[in-house]
Amino acid sequence: MTELLIRGRVLTFVDEPRDIADTNSYRYFEDGALLIADGRIIAMGEYSDVARIAGSETPVADHRPHLVLPGLIDAHIHFPQMQAVASYAAQLLEWLNTYTFVEEQKFADEQHAEFVAERFMDELLRHGTTTVAAYCSVHPQSVDAFFRAAQARNMCVIGGKVMMDRNAPPALCDTAQSGYDETKALIARWQGKGRLHYAITPRFAITSTPEQMEMSGALAREHPEAYIQTHLSENREEIALTRSLYPQAPDYTGIYEHYGLLGRKTLLGHCIHLSGREAKVLAETGAVAVFCPTSNLFLGSGLFDRDGLRAEGARIAVATDIGGGTSFSMLKTLDEAYKVLQLRGQRLSPLHSFYMMTLGNARALSLEDRIGTLEPGTEADVIVLNSRATPVMRMRMDVASTLTEELFLLQTTGDDRAVEQVYVAGKPMKEALGEGAGEKT
Ligand code: GUN
Ligand code: ZN
Repeated sequence: MTELLIRGRVLTFVDEPRDIADTNSYRYFEDGALLIADGRIIAMGEYSDVARIAGSETPVADHRPHLVLPGLIDAHIHFPQMQAVASYAAQLLEWLNTYTFVEEQKFADEQHAEFVAERFMDELLRHGTTTVAAYCSVHPQSVDAFFRAAQARNMCVIGGKVMMDRNAPPALCDTAQSGYDETKALIARWQGKGRLHYAITPRFAITSTPEQMEMSGALAREHPEAYIQTHLSENREEIALTRSLYPQAPDYTGIYEHYGLLGRKTLLGHCIHLSGREAKVLAETGAVAVFCPTSNLFLGSGLFDRDGLRAEGARIAVATDIGGGTSFSMLKTLDEAYKVLQLRGQRLSPLHSFYMMTLGNARALSLEDRIGTLEPGTEADVIVLNSRATPVMRMRMDVASTLTEELFLLQTTGDDRAVEQVYVAGKPMKEALGEGAGEKT
């Protein structure tokens, strides 16, 4: 049995914080430790207690004075859009047609898909993100490249082949039948292999015919083990076009509802402009509204109404939405989430931010028994954050006196530079990460 003792200031959430003073929502050990064996956490607590359980030969990774947290989770990201980040467009549909659909066509080439997948996984890890729910391109080979790159790093990821059979370039379109067949084959190949999970992925109602929606519903019924991911109510123009394509539906949400696509394993990107009825449907079905703040600001899509959705009882996750989103960093994402909610007159406490990036997103993905926490028995995806990583952070930390102050400055001024180390299933990864840039070999 390979054991490792990780020492540092250990912080993990046990519940959603009610407010900034809710000390019952987390566990914190100033001189804490995790004992890892065979990829799992087997003990968490005070260093002196945990060290006693460990074998005398067990190596110690001493990360003092840094924070030790669960790996961060990103609930909505597009792997083929890594090179579409920072593309200049007025809003969503123009951005999709001008840049995204052009970029995604390159993933017909398996070598290109592999090249990007390797760099994508490394970039996630460099930012402290150990789990994502990702859209691949329409090409099955992009899904193979995505899962192979995750498997090589032993990462817990969710991914799926985008299905779209209209309103996209012909080179990016499947058909209702081929989308169904290819998705079935990919589920058989990847679902439940090691730490990999499949997501049935009709891109959004605009790019799927009613026939493809029907087939997506069939896939969902035939594969309750799989996730479903799509986009919902991101942009006014998108909503108007969607309504014209599905005139019988009561609203945008009603389309996915009609085809049986809403349930506890459904992840709905954006959910910005929902009516009261739509929010209720999300709450009743347990479908998750995924808040993508950097993307919503970048594409001018609108301001997510977290409190409105919460009041109806809807489940909420948070995500980067690369490449509509502008940063791989979940710290920066929560920084922007804070600002979006400020504009809404809603508060986001630093405790709540760190909860959302870890246990909150794990719960949204129904994976809280495995990730998003440092509880014994869970898988050892762990990050180490340095709150003094930059001159600005050091200056600010010099006058910080509480844990919540520290978390807030990490969120507001931190990014990949604050990530000292990242463990995937107990294995340190930072030293092995590629540079990201460079020529294709
Ligand atoms: N809606 C449909 N596809 C996309 C996408 O790739 N990005 C975003 N932000 N919205 C979408
Ligand atoms: Zn998206």
